[in-house]
Amino acid sequence: MANLWVKKPIEQLLQMASDSDKGLKRTLGSWNLVALGIGAIIGAGLFVRTAAAAGAHAGPAVTISFIIAALGCAFAGLCYAEFASMIPIAGSAYTYAYATMGELIAWIIGWALVLEYALGAATVSIAWSEYLNVLLGGAIPYEWCHSPLESAQIEGVVHTGIMNVPSLFILLLLTMLLIRGTQQSAMVNAVIVFIKVAIVLAFIALGWQFINPANHIPYLIPENAPDAILPNGSTYSYLPFFHHGWGGVLTGAGIVFFAFIGFDAVSTAAQEAKNPSRDMPIGILGSLVVCTILYILFSHVLTGVAPYTDFMRAGKEASVAYAIRQYMPGFNWLATLITVAILAGFSSVILVMLLGQSRVFYSMSNDGLLPKAFSDIHPKFRTPYKSNWILFAFVGAFAAFIPGSVAGDLTSIGTLFAFVLVSAGVWVMRRNNPELVRPFKTPLVPLVPILGMVVCTAMIVGLPGPTLLSALGWMVLGLVIYFGFSQKNSHLQQK
Ligand code: ALA
Repeated sequence: MANLWVKKPIEQLLQMASDSDKGLKRTLGSWNLVALGIGAIIGAGLFVRTAAAAGAHAGPAVTISFIIAALGCAFAGLCYAEFASMIPIAGSAYTYAYATMGELIAWIIGWALVLEYALGAATVSIAWSEYLNVLLGGAIPYEWCHSPLESAQIEGVVHTGIMNVPSLFILLLLTMLLIRGTQQSAMVNAVIVFIKVAIVLAFIALGWQFINPANHIPYLIPENAPDAILPNGSTYSYLPFFHHGWGGVLTGAGIVFFAFIGFDAVSTAAQEAKNPSRDMPIGILGSLVVCTILYILFSHVLTGVAPYTDFMRAGKEASVAYAIRQYMPGFNWLATLITVAILAGFSSVILVMLLGQSRVFYSMSNDGLLPKAFSDIHPKFRTPYKSNWILFAFVGAFAAFIPGSVAGDLTSIGTLFAFVLVSAGVWVMRRNNPELVRPFKTPLVPLVPILGMVVCTAMIVGLPGPTLLSALGWMVLGLVIYFGFSQKNSHLQQK
């Protein structure tokens, strides 16, 4: 009789961590890890969702939305840091759950991480394709940069997508890079991170002088704000509770939460860190702190340069470039550079998401829960190359044929779910294994884990109903696979 709650002995995990000659190569130092985190974090969330949250919900107080979302991430991040320093094994939340809450929960969390990483990569690759077309002045025909489920009327003619070729292209490129090696990937990532942080800083520094203090008054959207006119001519009322004041700030937090997704990806690379017990907490918490500071400054400048109401009718995805062109005369070059930075930024987000996903699969396959191909290591590059190719096929199919909007919120659910379970896991582990060495300790246990669980659960509940249903469907499929394949092949069950 199979035991659903069988736990992986922590000694076995630690043994695997020290036995690094056979597996993945240890090449990453603390700065590489912080860069890996920033690489995964700064992307569509900052460049696209800030303006959306400010325009429709939070106004200039989107800065406070960022602080709330950052707090939720910080509680979970502190829990991740304890685990990542204690169990420095590839696989992140999945591995921690296997040691603390047993196989079934570990499987569920691993399956939820697919939503975060694989769908996250697909979503961002679709956004990448849109921005590439913006940069090329719309040169790519509609049919070849949209999914068959999308159509639009352009100059009186209806166009329907065939396949999103640019998304496939960027996924292929990054998959090939990942197979070459983690160190090469980390190097490319570091260059991209440098470019995108430099441009974010340039926008903050140059935009600061164009802040119009009147745009920041009042700071929260007032209840009686006049309706906004949308591009299609309809109106948008600020009257509902979540469209103004503190209600709006809270909804804004849910929207900009996407901007923080990725800091946990650092923990998937634990087995490739040179000194994981010291460097993992630095990588996770360091990247979170750097990004939080940048986000608050960035959103302060953006809502100071342009009135938040502008974002309801103009700019759309390219809102930052819009604000510069409209309100910062003489800085058109910065608007173009921002678009380039966004393309580069999206690439590194995709890169780290794909890396994270293949490492989670690597661990699940090592445990027998997925077929062995997912953990086969390339003889020369020592990367899980087959897993990378399978992942390319899966993520690529999604990116080429499914619209981007479907995947975005699912990514957030998968992430938040993992955060809740990791927070719970730290608490469980403190009670069950108090004797283990913890190079980094989450402060104020159980308060911090409880706050992590509460804040992240609240953000899940606030997401749209249909998305929650899709996530449920995904989890049911996961259980079918678990009981149909994984449980029978689990190495732990066979002992
Ligand atoms: N945090 C990542 C982004 O904003 C997912 O694109």
